[in-house]
Amino acid sequence: MAEKNRTGFWIIGAWGGVATTAVVGLLNLQKQLVRPIGLTTELPDFANVKGMPAWTDFVPGGYEIRDFSFGQAADELTEQRALESSTAAQVRAELEELDARVLPGFLANSGKVVEAMADRKREETLTPREMLFAMQADMKAFAEENQLEHLIVVNLMSTEPVCEYFEKQTLAKLPEAEQAKRRNEWENWDAFRALLDASAESPVPASTLYAAAAMELGYDFVNFTPSLGATPPAFEQLAERTASRFYGNDGKTGETLMKSVLAPMFAHRNLHVMSWVGHNIFGNRDGIVLDDPHNKATKVSSKNHLLEQILGYPPQTLVTIEYIKSLGDWKTAWDHIHFQGFLGTPMTLQFTWQGCDSLLAAPLVLDLLRLTELARRRNFTGRMDFLACFFKSPIRVEEQSFVRQFEELEDWLREE
Ligand SMILES: NC(=O)c1ccc[n+]([C@@H]2O[C@H](COP(=O)([O-])OP(=O)(O)OC[C@H]3O[C@@H](n4cnc5c(N)ncnc54)[C@H](O)[C@@H]3O)[C@@H](O)[C@H]2O)c1
Repeated sequence: MAEKNRTGFWIIGAWGGVATTAVVGLLNLQKQLVRPIGLTTELPDFANVKGMPAWTDFVPGGYEIRDFSFGQAADELTEQRALESSTAAQVRAELEELDARVLPGFLANSGKVVEAMADRKREETLTPREMLFAMQADMKAFAEENQLEHLIVVNLMSTEPVCEYFEKQTLAKLPEAEQAKRRNEWENWDAFRALLDASAESPVPASTLYAAAAMELGYDFVNFTPSLGATPPAFEQLAERTASRFYGNDGKTGETLMKSVLAPMFAHRNLHVMSWVGHNIFGNRDGIVLDDPHNKATKVSSKNHLLEQILGYPPQTLVTIEYIKSLGDWKTAWDHIHFQGFLGTPMTLQFTWQGCDSLLAAPLVLDLLRLTELARRRNFTGRMDFLACFFKSPIRVEEQSFVRQFEELEDWLREE
């Protein structure tokens, strides 16, 4: 028997840095052992909203492809000075119990670096549809065993390479009939579904299979990574049919958050931005994956596109992301903005952002979990545009200014 308001937090990439920090944080919040700094939903205007889920409503579980544990991942974060040792120690017993709820994950078009680190993946010979059924069996079993009313799947796994099958440049080179077929698959759920039923050679990446598995069951999907996930418009049709919710992509935690705050300032003062260069260095596992050019392309595109949308013209841009092992989870972003002032005089703004990646990301994950569940309790279904302020590449939302996006979230909260 499902317990009212008990919701699963099903994490893809459960023993990764962001996921482990989110789980350690959630357990600490459930036991009221930490102050809720960094959590938007703990602001008075949010926390007092009718129906806001309690932290104790959520039950974590999920998938992972590496042989690891929450304890080992927390130790790694503590060694890197990301977590205080006491923060992990005070929920150690709970973390050990949760390890049993992390199942071997699925790989599909995940790229060579991710494949190389996978030592607890599921059977390789499954077709996409068979994988999807296996995922659904796992999710249903988890919901049943834990008396859950609902499940929210949160994608926190390594960034996948760009899905070339749907890329504009790839499409442009194809015969018109093939282009039309792919456009139809992109837009219509029945056509997309047929793609899942095709052979093991399917181009669909794991993030999209996880999204489809969840949403076909009426569960929700949040994509905190820049991977494809539920991006195709076909998923809007799926959400309508199953009354589920989804949103993404790519958590807006650091350098891009700064861009979405600063670029509107240049636009409003009519200062002409000539170039915006952003160099990023960091040394966690995400950095190893993003060191592969195929996986990196997905992230660079996600960090780069918003400037033109905010400014209304494309300045010259450069985004670099480099893996520097000694930095661990500590990321430095150095941005150099070259702009023209009155009478064309060139000027420069530079900033340095030094943040701990997992600690910046985890509270956003927890806020997204809570707001997605609030949306369900308010009977909202479909694309959750009101969550745009949390993402670098909010799905099909044009507004990129952080402040305006945040106001839209506040408006949505006030609706009831
Ligand atoms: N500030 C941030 O840290 C931030 C901001 C925005 C987005 N992100 C994105 O969040 C994701 C997680 O970041 P992280 O620093 O925790 O990385 P991480 O490498 O520590 O964690 C990713 C985890 O996913 C697992 N994984 C990979 N493929 C999988 C699959 N197919 N199924 C199940 N598990 C799989 C990996 O084994 C790893 O444990 C990345 O895609 C990153 O780009 C992070």
